[in-house]
Amino acid sequence: MPIIMCSKPSPIIFAILLLSLLCNGASTVAGCVESERNALVDFKRGLLDHTGRLSSWTGSDCCNWRGVACSNRTGHVVRLDLRNPHPFSSDSDDQPYNEWSMGGELRPSLLGLKKLRFLDLSMNYFGGRPIPEFVGSIRNLRYLNLSRSGLGGLVPRQIGNLSSLQYLDLHNDPFYRSSGRVPGLSIDDPLWISGLSSLRHLDMGNVTFRDTSSLVESLNMLPHIVELRLSLCAIQSIPLSLPHVNFTRLSTLDLSYNRIDTPTIPSWLFNVSSLVHLDLTGNDFRGSIPAEIEKLSSLEVLELSGNNLQGVIPKEVGNICNLHTLRLGDMNISRSLPELGDVFSGCIKTSLENLYLFRTGLTSYLPDWLGELTSLKKTLSRQ
Ligand SMILES: *[C@@H]1O[C@H](CO)[C@@H](O)[C@H](O)[C@H]1NC(C)=O
Ligand SMILES: *[C@@H]1O[C@H](CO)[C@@H](O)[C@H](O)[C@H]1NC(C)=O
Ligand SMILES: *[C@@H]1O[C@H](CO)[C@@H](O)[C@H](O)[C@H]1NC(C)=O
Ligand SMILES: *[C@@H]1O[C@H](CO)[C@@H](O)[C@H](O)[C@H]1NC(C)=O
Ligand SMILES: *[C@@H]1O[C@H](CO)[C@@H](O)[C@H](O)[C@H]1NC(C)=O
Ligand SMILES: *[C@@H]1O[C@H](CO)[C@@H](O)[C@H](O)[C@H]1NC(C)=O
Ligand SMILES: *[C@@H]1O[C@H](CO)[C@@H](O)[C@H](O)[C@H]1NC(C)=O
Repeated sequence: MPIIMCSKPSPIIFAILLLSLLCNGASTVAGCVESERNALVDFKRGLLDHTGRLSSWTGSDCCNWRGVACSNRTGHVVRLDLRNPHPFSSDSDDQPYNEWSMGGELRPSLLGLKKLRFLDLSMNYFGGRPIPEFVGSIRNLRYLNLSRSGLGGLVPRQIGNLSSLQYLDLHNDPFYRSSGRVPGLSIDDPLWISGLSSLRHLDMGNVTFRDTSSLVESLNMLPHIVELRLSLCAIQSIPLSLPHVNFTRLSTLDLSYNRIDTPTIPSWLFNVSSLVHLDLTGNDFRGSIPAEIEKLSSLEVLELSGNNLQGVIPKEVGNICNLHTLRLGDMNISRSLPELGDVFSGCIKTSLENLYLFRTGLTSYLPDWLGELTSLKKTLSRQ
């Protein structure tokens, strides 16, 4: 500090001192690093912003611009949140965007934001443009959300260089009424995913995997993963065995609506004892539900509907004491409903709140054991 204090520091000098501390040195202009301001201005030039969502992007203090946030400590831009704040839904809208969705080009000027940790471009519409490879060079990213953003083509494997990334959301919308022209993302060889060594949350819903031979092995290299959402990914197989299960924190595993066709539910899944929510709905798992399922003692939600599972429901299902939701629709259960009494006499009898038994071939009248389920709120069983 080029300030020399003589006898009594005046309040003005104190004020200057405080101000220069807050602004952190010469490279910042009114709280914003000038090179970063220039980077943002250039990035904005590439975007189409019909509704003026970026109209606050003028003046010198880029830290006050809408969607931009700077570190209080260093003054660098750390967050860029350009999520379209006006939601639309794939059920009610006939387009995968609305008037507030921004489009255009994603310029590499973004790389000028050297300390960027958070980037959210979700709910915009980039008309099927690919995810730029340079995204893999935004080295400090912790959070990347490109979900429902109309990006298309192959996901660049450079993203696997983001070793600090904790959240990756590439979820693509599954349904539109007018549909047909919704751009889609795909992944050729998922091996690059194993580079995301800090990842906690991964959502690749409706991203097509063209080759899944190394998928589970790659995911098994993510020691911090908590949530894995891989619904509608066109996954056709997963290995029946693994040398060692690394998923010690995995809490949610969603593999619903793929085409996984294996003779049984792979036994390594039952070693993932941290699982709270397991969704295997809408695949082609065959065989019967293994008794080992009781090893998943933290499970709260178990969804197995719509597979080729057959035979008895093992009474071990009834020993999962935290289970509150059980969905076993669309499968061939070879026992009558009253015979399931031994399943529902386990500790599940006080935890179960939702029981779904659609089209299970079970015969109709309400069995006595149903009255023993003291927490039950909803039962659905038709046909
Ligand atoms: C900066 O400080 C304010 C007020 O304490 C806080 O609300 C904001 O989240 C902080 N910004 C960042 C990027 O940490
Ligand atoms: C990503 O954005 C979508 C849509 O804006 C949001 O629903 C989702 O929760 C976000 N993902 C994460 C991991 O925060
Ligand atoms: C990023 O990833 C690509 C492809 O996976 C690789 O060729 C490149 O060397 C990586 N770059 C850095 C800086 O790590
Ligand atoms: C998934 O995304 C594609 C675009 O690749 C889209 O055409 C398709 O309708 C979506 N939904 C499903 C269920 O596959
Ligand atoms: C388990 O994770 C560690 C750390 O990521 C990795 O070195 C190891 O190869 C993984 N094991 C398997 C079987 O993938
Ligand atoms: C699963 O757990 C059992 C012990 O319960 C252990 O012997 C086996 O090696 C584990 N399998 C995997 C794939 O981790
Ligand atoms: C259900 O399974 C039994 C054998 O357990 C078989 O005879 C029957 O054809 C199956 N029904 C359907 C609809 O698959």
